[in-house]
Order: sequence, then structure tokens, then C-alpha cells
Amino acid sequence: MGWYDAPFVPTDENVVREMLKLAELRPGEVLYDLGSGDGRIVVIAAKEFKARAVGIEVRKDLIKRSWENARKAGVLDMVRFVNANFFHIDISEADVVTLFLLTSTNEKLRPKLEAELRDGARVVSHEFEIRPWKPERMEIVSDGLNTHKLLLYRIKKR
Ligand SMILES: C[S@@+](CC[C@H](N)C(=O)[O-])C[C@H]1O[C@@H](n2cnc3c(N)ncnc32)[C@H](O)[C@@H]1O
Repeated sequence: MGWYDAPFVPTDENVVREMLKLAELRPGEVLYDLGSGDGRIVVIAAKEFKARAVGIEVRKDLIKRSWENARKAGVLDMVRFVNANFFHIDISEADVVTLFLLTSTNEKLRPKLEAELRDGARVVSHEFEIRPWKPERMEIVSDGLNTHKLLLYRIKKR
């Protein structure tokens, strides 16, 4: 199978840390990475930020790698990987959602984020906007070679 709503391109691990700092992810919070690739955001969220983290990934081979990465990092009890299309999975328990998809996919996801996430939940997107939302913060970070745009959004229901 080829790619689905976005191809597999992993986020640099230091950029992952910047995404989770931007989201102010706290111990015990719940993070969902939609399209979790090899699980690196989920694993770093659990290991370094002490969050409970869930990855949803359509590719079975990447789910297998994710479990392996979580095992190596010693965080199996704090993570979960779901082999599914993220459009079909309830994400309402998330305090923080991370995305590295495409602008067109984010646009399709926006109604789901608005419907399911609680007031105050944060969404961090690597590179791509969630139109027509306005980001609360924008950061440019470097991985030593390339720069990356990080966008922080906050759900407001009241
Ligand atoms: C650009 S990669 C990002 C991986 C990871 N989040 C990271 O930042 O390292 C996007 C991932 O989303 C997955 N994906 C695309 N559409 C999906 C869908 N509808 N449901 C679940 N996973 C999806 C792809 O297979 C790919 O692994």
C-alpha cells in the first residue's frame, strides 16, 4: 500500500521535543499523534514528558516498528498504538494532539478536532496550517540542517 492522507516522513527527534514543549505537555496528560509513523512522538512523550500517549497509524509495518521502539525505550506500559484510519478513532480523551500531515488533510480533520476535543486541548502541527484557525503561537526550529515551522492551536469551546 502507498501512503494514505500523508506519506511517512519522520519528525526529527529534537523537533519532536520542541513540539511537546510548545504544547506544554505535562506528566499524566494524554497525547494523541494522528498518523504516528514509527511512534517516535508517542515514545518521547511517554519517556521524557511522562505522558500517556497513543499513536494512530494506518500502516501495519509502522505499527510493528512503533511497538518495538516503545519496548526499547521501556515505555510499553504508557503507550498504545492503534492500527487504524485516524478519521475513525475517537480522540476525545486527548489533552494534546500532534500532527505532521498535509494542509489538505488538516482541513479535513478540523471538524473532527472541533467536535471531539475538550475546551483547552492543544493541537501542535509540524509544518502545516489548520485552516482557517489562527495559531496561538508559531515557532521556527532547526534540526541542524533544515528549519521547521511549528504551530500551536488551542481549542476554545466557550
Ligand atoms: C509525515 S508522517 C508523520 C509521522 C509521525 N507523526 C512523525 O511526526 O514522526 C504521516 C503518517 O501518517 C500516516 N497516515 C496518513 N494518513 C493516515 C490516516 N488516515 N490514518 C492513520 N494514519 C495515517 C502515514 O502512514 C504516515 O506514517
